[in-house]
Amino acid sequence: MYNENFIANNFANLPDTSSYTWSSPSNIALIKYWGKNENQTPKNTSISFTLSNSRTITTLELNRKNKVDNNILFDVYYKDRKIEEFRPKIDLFFRKILEYCSYLKGYSFKITTENTFPHSSGIASSASGMSALALCIMSLEKDLDLTMEEEYFFKKASFLSRIGSGSACRSVFGGINIWGKHTKIKQSTDLYSINYPYDFSNDFLEYNDTILLVDTKAKKVSSSAGHKLMNNHIYADKRYNTAQENVIKLKCILEKGDLNSFANLVEEEAMMLHALMMTSKPSYVLIKPNTLNIINSIKNYRESSKIPVCFTLDAGANVHVLYPKEGKNEVELFIEAELKEYCKNYLYIKDKVGIGPMQL
Ligand code: DP6
Repeated sequence: MYNENFIANNFANLPDTSSYTWSSPSNIALIKYWGKNENQTPKNTSISFTLSNSRTITTLELNRKNKVDNNILFDVYYKDRKIEEFRPKIDLFFRKILEYCSYLKGYSFKITTENTFPHSSGIASSASGMSALALCIMSLEKDLDLTMEEEYFFKKASFLSRIGSGSACRSVFGGINIWGKHTKIKQSTDLYSINYPYDFSNDFLEYNDTILLVDTKAKKVSSSAGHKLMNNHIYADKRYNTAQENVIKLKCILEKGDLNSFANLVEEEAMMLHALMMTSKPSYVLIKPNTLNIINSIKNYRESSKIPVCFTLDAGANVHVLYPKEGKNEVELFIEAELKEYCKNYLYIKDKVGIGPMQL
């Protein structure tokens, strides 16, 4: 598929009003997306688990405008409170997708959104938020084009989500997702994410992800600014090649169900992401002392318990603790007894691999 395949027809009969609601999950990358091209395509392939409980629920209400033009009129509400915070990102998103969804020019919008995780948890909501909005837009497009097949619906939803926020394209499908062209992964593309296309051990669909909230403040560096720092990074080429190799390593691990190698590779990716931040110009450190305390405790616990629990990190201080169903009770006792004390206000979120978005 090419960009052109996602340009919608000019539809004649637009409804006067309409409303769509989607609940879309966040996702956690195992192989990280860090570095992108101008058009928000990635410099390397990434692989993620779609989560289950950490979601954004978005309602898009549409009203026909008096005249069709490029003016994007919208209001954003968080629950019942009108907010300005998300406006710039959503405005840019609408402007970028008009060429693929020209029918949007006929409407003004009310967007009402809420997260199932605490707003101030420091958890990125752009993946769940952008994918929920893209899915609402696709529901409108589907109403305009009744012949649209489900496969195209989700492909274009992922394509639009990507334009909003790169990692958001991986939230449109449940389970394991892969985004970014890889010569050895069939159907992989930079334009949208696909469900992981090979056999893998069922253990991975039952993985748990407990998100330890170490720092709940807004990030010092936005992801977009972080990606930009990869452009002149001295290790950029090495990183992109390593990521492509790690994709193939993960493919073997997923197939074999090798949970110990999984733990090592996922941690290597998380550490590399932060090492890249620490060696960019300017450099920055997003992990906190308690992030390191947690990392060390997890490594020690894995060593002594032999349970293949591991950690991964986003572009922030919070820690995602990943562990299989077998050993779940023990790991959760360990989190309560030893890791909780490192969390801000003792807060953490229990999540797991999920089935993807739902229309409400
Ligand atoms: C570290 O998708 O938030 O979480 O495309 O600029 O919106 P933009 O960036 P974003 O970057 C996510 C980076 C990451 C790794 C990952 O999710 O793969």
